[in-house]
Amino acid sequence: MAKFIVEKSQPLSGEVEISGAKNAVLPIMAAALLTADPCEIFEVPALRDVDVMRGLLEYFGSTVESDASGKRLLIRTGAIQTCEAPYELVTKMRASILALGPLLARTGEARIALPGGCAIGERPIDLHLKGFEMMGAKIKQTHGYIEASAPELKGARIYLDLPSVGATENLIMCAALAKGNTILDNAAKEPEIVDLANFLNKMGARVKGAGTDTIRIEGVPSLHGARHTVIPDRIETGTFMVAAAITKGRILIRNVVSDHVKPVIAKLLECGVHIEDGDEGLLVAADDRELLPTDIKTLPYPGFPTDMQPQLMALLTTVNGPSVVTETVFENRFMHVSELNRMGADIRIEGRSASIPGGKRLQGAKVICTDLRAGAAMVLAGMAAEGRTEVSEIYHIERGYTFLAEKFRSLGASITRIDDKD
Ligand code: UD1
Repeated sequence: MAKFIVEKSQPLSGEVEISGAKNAVLPIMAAALLTADPCEIFEVPALRDVDVMRGLLEYFGSTVESDASGKRLLIRTGAIQTCEAPYELVTKMRASILALGPLLARTGEARIALPGGCAIGERPIDLHLKGFEMMGAKIKQTHGYIEASAPELKGARIYLDLPSVGATENLIMCAALAKGNTILDNAAKEPEIVDLANFLNKMGARVKGAGTDTIRIEGVPSLHGARHTVIPDRIETGTFMVAAAITKGRILIRNVVSDHVKPVIAKLLECGVHIEDGDEGLLVAADDRELLPTDIKTLPYPGFPTDMQPQLMALLTTVNGPSVVTETVFENRFMHVSELNRMGADIRIEGRSASIPGGKRLQGAKVICTDLRAGAAMVLAGMAAEGRTEVSEIYHIERGYTFLAEKFRSLGASITRIDDKD
């Protein structure tokens, strides 16, 4: 299995271009199942999760073509060959569950393996299923599979107990072809939901209010093909912002929507990082600055994103003074703490909070990626640590970051990818 060898980095400098958002492109690819027409998607990031979603669509009967750059996908689903997503595919990527809504809406049935828990928590899908039921679907769970059938889907008023990103997306996609109006209350407000709604509206759907907590969908009988450019990845943006801070560097980050990273900007400003939001992109500088501690609490958007929590924690281990990080979105998203502690961070967990003493000179060590964002945190910590850090299980990182090592190297970091046999 491949690893990264990360050496202590000089201050990063230069420019970096952010790729399309993983969490936007996955539901958009799933939404392409809603029509027999071709859908053309631009700014598709080169990620393992995108390959898995592509494999899943092909399994259902889509043809998927990409251009030489891989940044443009053409998806055509003339006919759905099978409505079943087998366990082997779903376990490769939890977001496979996003096919449930489109399959149900297009064919009236779907059979999808239950994704099960993962490193950051149990992650149930009860809210997705409750919403489908309210739209008239019959749901059965048998032998580890969810079977959904609905000869006719009807619009409904659905209140989500939690503003779940995946449930909001699945239900919007399903409601787009349901008969009548659907109102989703307490919907998730993430920018990726707005991007999905924009794509669906280009396909002829009638989705209003995406980005607020009430989304109204007027069902239409059919959808047509559309062309769409995926928004920039706000978590990749945040990760590079932290990289500039942790190495005391100065970088320009291009292709960003600064509004989408407001909570990260706010926290880094509190830490004393210099940030300029200009026409060219975001300039992030921490050269010659003593950085300060700050407290963080993860929340649904527009709160501080849970997907940036491990990376910020890596930074906070190095700043001058103690910080507290509280995780409220996932119940078990502190797996990276023991890895950071192997590097000398001395973090203590109590319930949902982690106390970080700060002011540590991290030392390079052998660490593992416990999940995608935790993996990014290990690379960041490795760039700040004395000596050599060996980051293993980097397939997690490759699920969700486009050419992470290459991009960091172009800014002056020392990161080498090696296969275990080397
Ligand atoms: C998405 C993102 C993920 C991000 C997360 C939270 C994608 C592909 N993934 O995941 O990167 O970390 O949002 O911002 O977009 N929950 C339930 N019942 C449900 C659904 C969710 O209890 O039916 C709970 C989850 O266990 C979790 C919380 O709600 O504790 C948030 O989950 P959710 O917003 O659904 O995250 P995902 O869509 O899985």
